[in-house]
Amino acid sequence: MDADIDRILWTASEISDRVSSLASEINRDFKEKGCDLVVVGVATGAFMFLADLVRAIEIPVAVDFVRVESYGSGTESNGMPRISSDLKVDVSGKHVIVVEDIVDTGNTLSCLISYLKSKGACSVSVCTFLDKPARRRVHFELVGEGKIYRGFECPDYFVVGYGMDFAELYRNLPYVGVLKPEMHT
Ligand code: PRP
Ligand code: MN
Ligand code: MG
Repeated sequence: MDADIDRILWTASEISDRVSSLASEINRDFKEKGCDLVVVGVATGAFMFLADLVRAIEIPVAVDFVRVESYGSGTESNGMPRISSDLKVDVSGKHVIVVEDIVDTGNTLSCLISYLKSKGACSVSVCTFLDKPARRRVHFELVGEGKIYRGFECPDYFVVGYGMDFAELYRNLPYVGVLKPEMHT
């Protein structure tokens, strides 16, 4: 374990099992749907989860990324996310699954879902590895037949690893852990 980590919440193998189940749900739900599927990862945090998830998706799928920034180098959302790197794929008339590492206040998702709706996505679902409901401030609504897929509910600690950072570090850890308080306070 990294010396800056207090304790591990989910090991690499627990993560891998959960990601397989999420992919199975997605395979089942989207197999019979008529139109194209696009998975949109929110950079940077979602990169590792997205890579694992799409490897287990067994239907044709396009992969794209957007960058939505709200945290900078701190630990608190500033409440005003902006899309700083746009989609490459045209999502109009397509089923979109937004892939996130964590939903915290909900600001990032609510901004992104409105944007995808305005681009004409026929449905917008969300697949988030972690959900931290204790910190939710903004309610977001899915689009069309969109549905939410959640990996784990996250207790209210500052967590890092499996894509999640503090000041851009720790994203490469293959597990999710609680950062020692003295490292971020
Ligand atoms: C983190 C995380 C989510 C977002 C969730 O990203 O990856 O995208 O915050 O927080 P919210 O629900 O309060 O909006 P961050 O802005 O830190 O960028 P990063 O993915 O590059 O680390
Ligand atoms: Mn992010
Ligand atoms: Mg971050």
